Amino acid sequence: MKRTKVIDALKRTDFGSDITVMGWVRSKRGSKGIFFIALNDGSTIKNIQIVGEDQHFDEAMVKLITTGACIRVNGVLVESPAAGQASEVQAKEIEVLGACDSTYPMQKKGQSFEYMRQHAHMRLRTNTFGAVMRIRHNMAMAIHTYFHEHGFFYFHTPLITASDCEGAGNMFQVTTKNLYDLKKDENGQITYDDDFFGTQTALTVSGQLEGELGATALGQIYTFGPTFRAENSNTPRHLAEFWMIEPEMAFYDKQDLMDLEEDFIKYCVRWALDHCQDDLAFLNQMIDKTLIERLESVLKEDFVRLPYTEGIRILQEAIRNGRKFEFPCNWGDDLASEHERYLVEEHFKRPVIMTDYPKEIKAFYMKLNEDGKTMQGTDVLFPSIGEIIGGSVREESLDKLMAEIQRRQMDTTTLEWYLDTRRWGTCPHAGFGLGFERLILFVTGMQNIRDVIPFPRTPKNAAF
Ligand code: 4AD
Ligand code: MG
Repeated sequence: MKRTKVIDALKRTDFGSDITVMGWVRSKRGSKGIFFIALNDGSTIKNIQIVGEDQHFDEAMVKLITTGACIRVNGVLVESPAAGQASEVQAKEIEVLGACDSTYPMQKKGQSFEYMRQHAHMRLRTNTFGAVMRIRHNMAMAIHTYFHEHGFFYFHTPLITASDCEGAGNMFQVTTKNLYDLKKDENGQITYDDDFFGTQTALTVSGQLEGELGATALGQIYTFGPTFRAENSNTPRHLAEFWMIEPEMAFYDKQDLMDLEEDFIKYCVRWALDHCQDDLAFLNQMIDKTLIERLESVLKEDFVRLPYTEGIRILQEAIRNGRKFEFPCNWGDDLASEHERYLVEEHFKRPVIMTDYPKEIKAFYMKLNEDGKTMQGTDVLFPSIGEIIGGSVREESLDKLMAEIQRRQMDTTTLEWYLDTRRWGTCPHAGFGLGFERLILFVTGMQNIRDVIPFPRTPKNAAF
């Protein structure tokens, strides 16, 4: 008989009909010749209850129905006498598809996330990771839907690149050169003419530069793909491989950009509240009791729009009033996560879009303000996350952009194609990057970014 998914089985009301369900045993208990199985197949956080009478089943088979085992159940759908569930399955036949002995690492409840990370390949079968992964999927759907409905084109930028978008230099090199016998030139420098691409290449840190080419032709594009950063930051908010969404829009100014950032994030959060109710209810109960309240509050209020200079003033006033921070924050400093969170969580108590940063702490492509000191960046800072979006208006003037590139002593040989956007038919434009896992952190209430991606890549860890 055709399998019914648990999510559908729980909605069926044709009591008395035959039904087949398959899944993994969450738990089994028994009393007075009857056993009860909580079965989950990943389609929903909810389990379906299977009821069987010991006398109808082979004792050895019933013994194999342990936590983690995979089973197929043929039975009859019945109305459930138990509270909290409409239906259950009265088992007629049970087949153990995959037994699961006591060495199964996920069998105990309440294991630490750190323990589960060491078994990241099996943690997906737990309630928490099932909920997080279903929400992750839903957020991807929200993002594609939002941009599609707003006339953006999904634009695919390369993962292997010869240019360093953020200019931070923390890229993973890509090569087919023999690392055990590295060919060098007469000066002892590594050559690349004999490498696969004939030039030094790396995994991309951002698709923005290519995205700008898309936007200045198609009007509005977005990327959604993996991004790689070899930054050695072992924090709960950094991954070496993460997913980024980068919309880029022609004819947008700073105001348009901030409006889009806010509208887009709110749409995603609303989507989660509308489409992930069961998983959010579970996480709200088990992980973070203020989760749903926090999601709803983000929707209610306008984001604060705060120039960097004003942010520094607020932080320094807090310091004068006795607030202690680990890192300094004088004008010109890059804000640390503790500063961002102070502004968002303690001072304003709502999300902040910080703008107009000192040019020294931002990337070369941002539009310079008339003061000559600040750039039109527009980062979105979120409660419990800190920076969730990094964005900016782009410098569209070739002269100004070249001046900035020279000031930074950047090599333009791998950027000429980018500069062509400014040489021919340049236009005002802007864009931003949303860290997908940071959004998932916010929406799930999880604390560590390693726990919102199936197989995290972090310093000294590429397992699975
Ligand atoms: O602020 P970032 O570095 O901006 C850019 O890459 C721009 N090129 C984006 C653009 O304007 N198109 O990164 C954007 C976002 C951050 O705000 C953060 O949410 C996320 O990407 N991010 C990371 N997420 C996880 N792990 C890391 N190591 C991250 N680095 C950045
Ligand atoms: Mg940033």
